[in-house]
Amino acid sequence: MSIVSCAATAAVPAAAPRFAGLRRVAGPAALNRDVEQPSAVTLQVSGRSNSRASRRCVATMAGTGRFVVGGNWKCNGNTASIQKLVQDLNAGEITADVEVICAPPMIYLPRVQSTLDRKYQLSAQNCWVGEGGAFTGEVAAEMLADNNIPWVILGHSERRALLGESDEFIGQKVAYAISKGLSVMACIGETLEERERGDTLNVCRRQLQAIVNCISPADWAKVVIAYEPVWAIGTGKVATPVEAQETHAGIRKYMAEAVSPAVASAVRIQYGGSVNAGNCEELARCEDIDGFLVGGASLDGAAFVTICNSARFNN
Ligand code: PGA
Repeated sequence: MSIVSCAATAAVPAAAPRFAGLRRVAGPAALNRDVEQPSAVTLQVSGRSNSRASRRCVATMAGTGRFVVGGNWKCNGNTASIQKLVQDLNAGEITADVEVICAPPMIYLPRVQSTLDRKYQLSAQNCWVGEGGAFTGEVAAEMLADNNIPWVILGHSERRALLGESDEFIGQKVAYAISKGLSVMACIGETLEERERGDTLNVCRRQLQAIVNCISPADWAKVVIAYEPVWAIGTGKVATPVEAQETHAGIRKYMAEAVSPAVASAVRIQYGGSVNAGNCEELARCEDIDGFLVGGASLDGAAFVTICNSARFNN
């Protein structure tokens, strides 16, 4: 079986460069001053028509830097309900400031691909850790690429908890998916017990470190980090904007130390966990929230469109 092997130990620089952890501070001056630039990537300072990016002086890699919203349909729906959802999504008007990615259950992907408007991209909810072969029930990254599915969600807490996927396994999956040309929404997040112990950022760092160990700095242009506190997923209990912003800033700070300030500045961090049409605006206003990964509310076309359009509050 061909899988991507990862460095056993982390490549964390001994002395972290100057970086305040928040995206807005990493402007052109920061780039010139202290960035160890990934060699394979051309860094540009955004002066593009994307107003959000230029306002923030974001150093971009290959990513668009736009607000990014994923709809994780999980294991829900049938032919009739998915047809209705697609109709509702197609009827929705989506602001140009957002990149939207829908992740239907695997068996419905081809049907959705042929009926969903092109303003939405598509994602799978999982793929195998290596090359296809005798792995019953799995789908290989190359099969997704072969079917023009550009994204995959990896490391979701439901797969970590219910299927025993380890940090290392997820790191390998991310690396293999990227090696086949896919982009990845990589999920991390703490349980309630871990939060109450004060371990939120330790858990996020550990989960990210396993990915850092497996991919190059340039590969982060293909990754969106989805911070999803497990206690907020499907519970109706959403992190407050202060809690979410604090963790997002901590994640960005970690990325600056573990990879580089340029990658930390460019990487988009989604919040996930009971996002809905009512709470999306105040979360979208948070400085380090660059999008959402939405479960339950993504099954309601109108609600999901509202969530996508909350991108306009992210300035
Ligand atoms: P939720 O799920 O929006 O239903 O909480 C989020 C997710 O699991 O991605």
